[in-house]
Amino acid sequence: MPELLVRLPHVDEVLSQDQEYCLLVEDGKKRRIRFHDYGEIYSIPGLYEKLFADLLKCSSPEMIATLLADEVERTGESVADLHVLDLGAGNGMVGEQLRARGVRRLVAVDIIEEAAEAARRDRPDVYQRYHVGDIRDLPADARDDLAARDINCMTCVAALGFGDIPPTAFLAAYDLVPSGGWIAFNIKDTFLDKRTGNGFAALIREMIGDGRLRVCTQRTYTHRLSVSGDKLPYVAMVARKA
Ligand SMILES: C[S@@+](CC[C@H](N)C(=O)[O-])C[C@H]1O[C@@H](n2cnc3c(N)ncnc32)[C@H](O)[C@@H]1O
Repeated sequence: MPELLVRLPHVDEVLSQDQEYCLLVEDGKKRRIRFHDYGEIYSIPGLYEKLFADLLKCSSPEMIATLLADEVERTGESVADLHVLDLGAGNGMVGEQLRARGVRRLVAVDIIEEAAEAARRDRPDVYQRYHVGDIRDLPADARDDLAARDINCMTCVAALGFGDIPPTAFLAAYDLVPSGGWIAFNIKDTFLDKRTGNGFAALIREMIGDGRLRVCTQRTYTHRLSVSGDKLPYVAMVARKA
């Protein structure tokens, strides 16, 4: 595969995370691609990895997988017994990290077909099934498949807020996990702030407050760098469903 030439823009103003973009250089021409145009990014093999993992040092798939595996082992359970629903799975980077830590059963859900195609192309052995659609309104065969699995863990990485996965979709995935199951996710720190947060601030606080989420570990860390090189703080959380 020829090396991708990706440039980060020199921007004077501070771009909000959902305005950020990169420049892909092809045949001497620059193509501007917004970070949130996931379909376009996934359709170019290696671009997601080059951009987020290499250039912007995104650590989240590894961070969530490590924290989850550590917590599972700390309780004396085995990661090999997890059956993971990876919500907003993208091209499979989280699934790959989970497999590397011994998870054997994974099913993916993402809202765009390009994500499923990229996962099949780049990481064909990570997920047993990949369902495309809105978790709140999946086709009957996808609902039947999820119901037939003994899912006992839900992961959701770099996909909450910003017009991506809304609180109601997070809750729909949570509902597929039985009591005692594992919930592991990350979210931008300000989205958990009750003064500045979006719907997640209230939801997560409420779920912790009323016991629906029993937090095992919570960590603030750098999710990735912004295009201007600033650290973007996120909160990683591993919890158990009450
Ligand atoms: C930044 S990517 C993260 C992908 C992967 N979890 C990772 O960490 O590499 C966000 C993903 O969330 C997906 N997404 C956005 N809205 C969604 C929704 N409502 N339901 C499911 N997936 C969604 C996008 O299509 C995209 O693949």
